[in-house]
Amino acid sequence: MTPRSAAPGSITVRVPAKVNVQLAVGAARPDGFHDLANVFLAVGLYDEVTATPADELRVTCAGPGADQVPLDRTNLAARAAEALAARYGRRADVHLHIAKDIPVAGGMAGGSADGAGALVACDALWGTGASRDELLDICAELGSDVPFSLVGGAALGTGRGEKLAELAVGGTFHWVFAVADGGLSTPAVYREFDRLTPDAPEPVASPALLDALRTGDPTALAGALTNDLQPAALSLFPALTDTLKAGTEAGALAGLVSGSGPTTAFLAKDAESAERVAAALRASGTCRTARVAVAPAPGATVV
Ligand code: C5P
Repeated sequence: MTPRSAAPGSITVRVPAKVNVQLAVGAARPDGFHDLANVFLAVGLYDEVTATPADELRVTCAGPGADQVPLDRTNLAARAAEALAARYGRRADVHLHIAKDIPVAGGMAGGSADGAGALVACDALWGTGASRDELLDICAELGSDVPFSLVGGAALGTGRGEKLAELAVGGTFHWVFAVADGGLSTPAVYREFDRLTPDAPEPVASPALLDALRTGDPTALAGALTNDLQPAALSLFPALTDTLKAGTEAGALAGLVSGSGPTTAFLAKDAESAERVAAALRASGTCRTARVAVAPAPGATVV
């Protein structure tokens, strides 16, 4: 594919959102993180990160929810550029522009996508030539979900979610995402999980779920979807119960909270059913908007 660059000398990278089709959460570890069996599926909603040479590191953002995205050094895109520059002994003299389409603070790894996108964009812009393993190491330092944003497709994440084993997916899944009015803080949802689940068992991946992904069977996948963070997300954001009800009543095979929420995800039988569920959710008054997307989607890609 011929790369399309936004401006001469700039590199644009497209990065997908994710949904957790299984999120099994264990007890809090001494470092505060939780061991997970986290089955990630990349979905076709994308942020684009464009890296352009500049005098100094600068981040800008446009798109839905852009006003809630921090533009300082706490932004994972800025941290990714700094981490790569430090490793290669150069200045992070780059302007990173994020074209946002993944719901902000929605439990769909939008911030992680921007970190992975910035890393791949800076690597290409600077001709760093870092290996995939080096890039994945930097991703893991940036956050638990960042390595998956680089890889895409489907993967089982263990440890705090950063140790990935890629998974085979035997078909296309049609999803609907209900974007909530408001956000949820991931650390707050994990704290609520700890309060609600004092004796969390060791997290294990579900063989039935892995099988459903492998065969590409939406009904089987719908029956196997689980998210251990869902009770905590519902406890902090009770209105999501109404959204889940509206989506399943509209004909979704199943619905669940996406990651730490508050986006809710609905699996549909096919593309037409997904459109119907999305329309019903938009009309239900239980969410800000609803988006359809197919999975699996590729990981961070230069466009
Ligand atoms: O790794 P990341 O920075 O994305 O994690 C954000 C927060 O989510 C952590 O500070 C922690 O509170 C929580 N978390 C966790 N266990 C994980 C992943 C994240 O407790 N496996």
